[in-house]
Formats: sequence, C-alpha cells, structure tokens
Amino acid sequence: MEIQKENPELVRGLFSDIAGRYQMVNHLLSGGLDFYWRAIAVRIIRPWKPATVLDVATGSGDLAMAIRKACPGARVVGADFCAPMLEVARKNGLPELVVADGMSLPFADQNFDVVTAAFGLRNMASWEKGLSEMARVLKPGGHLLILDFSLPTLPVIRPLYRFYLHHILPHIAGIATGRTDAYEYLGGSIEKFPSGNAMTSLIDSCGFRDAIAHPLTMGTVSIYTATRK
Ligand SMILES: C[S@@+](CC[C@H](N)C(=O)[O-])C[C@H]1O[C@@H](n2cnc3c(N)ncnc32)[C@H](O)[C@@H]1O
Repeated sequence: MEIQKENPELVRGLFSDIAGRYQMVNHLLSGGLDFYWRAIAVRIIRPWKPATVLDVATGSGDLAMAIRKACPGARVVGADFCAPMLEVARKNGLPELVVADGMSLPFADQNFDVVTAAFGLRNMASWEKGLSEMARVLKPGGHLLILDFSLPTLPVIRPLYRFYLHHILPHIAGIATGRTDAYEYLGGSIEKFPSGNAMTSLIDSCGFRDAIAHPLTMGTVSIYTATRK
C-alpha cells in the first residue's frame, strides 16, 4: 500500500534553512548518541568490505564520512536533494556528492555494493519508492543499511519518549535553530514511520530479502539491514 506522506518541497525547505546548524543541533538533541549509532552502523558495514557505497539522503555527510574512514579505498558517494546540506558535506570533506532525489536516483542499475540511508528514508514522500530505488542501484547480493528513529517498544518508556519528542525537543531545537516547526515535524514523522517487523516486511517487499531490525538505545533508534535479491 502506497501512503503519501511528506511534502518534498517542505522537507527540502526545512533542511535548507537549518543546514548550517544541523550537525550541532543533532549532537545536542541526541546527547551525542548519534556518534554511537553511526559507530554501530559502521561496525556492521566494515565486514561487508564494499568497494562502492552510496549514502542516500547524506545531508551533512556524517555517515558517509564514517564509512570512508572505516573502509579505506571504498568509493563513497553521497546523494541528497538539498544542495545547502550537500555544501555542509563538502566542507566536511566528502568529495563525491550528487544532488539527487532518493526516489529517482541518477545511477545505473546494479551499481553499488552497499547502499545506506541515515535518518533520510523517513522523510521521503514514498518509503516504497525510496527503498525500490535503493534496490535498483544495488548489485544483486549487495547490502542495505537503514538507520532511523523508531518508537520504543517498552510500555513504560514509550509515553516518556513521546513526551520528550512532542513537548521538549521542539522547544530546545526551536531555540537552537529558530525553526520549532521543523522539529514538530520530526516528532510527527517518527510517529508515522514503521519500525520493527513492520519495517522489515516493508523492506523485504521492495526487492530485498532477510531484513533484520537491530533496535538501539531502548528502541528509540533502529538499524535495519537487508540483502538485495
Ligand atoms: C535528518 S537529515 C539526515 C542527514 C544525514 N544522513 C545524517 O545522518 O545526519 C535528512 C536528509 O534527508 C534529505 N532528504 C529528505 N528527503 C529526500 C529525498 N527524497 N531525496 C534525497 N534526500 C532527501 C534531506 O535533504 C536531509 O539532508
């Protein structure tokens, strides 16, 4: 089932506005845990020994840079539809950048060994289109890694996390970025995004097999891995 979600122009506009402060706010709101989540992602990717990696919705390029460091010699390409975010990635030292919509990637079929997306798939208007494009550009047997927010499964934690997400986070972020609405949007998008089994089923229905969920930090974030059929 195709559900229409976020408005791409709205999403691009939000990230254009906050691009210069994105990394600082990210570290602030996650309490530095984003470094840990990327470190886990890279620990999963390294044994795959990729020669070519595409990081979709690369934004400021943090995951792509971490992969370059962990997999020396790998060609790591960062793609994003928001040019100001890619400008931050360029300043951070990511050399190969492409302005591109994750739902219509400008790459030939079966091009990459690994495709990643950190906190990007959730923002796409169609998760199915995003995942199917990732499958298309991956070589058969290639690996997918999605890192994104999820809702904690523990009944005690979930309401506390929701309170933080909807009532505390937008205010802190509003002070830091001047865009409270951008972070109200974040909470809403996390609520709608599938997690756990719902996400592994979705991934497997888009050209992948053996999708696995790896919940982190009490399930507030998850890494999903899968193999291209
Ligand atoms: C929350 S940021 C994540 C950036 C980075 N991957 C990270 O982990 O910090 C989301 C990024 O997704 C990008 N994005 C959202 N929808 C997109 C789409 N349809 N195609 C390409 N990029 C998209 C935004 O421009 C933004 O840079």
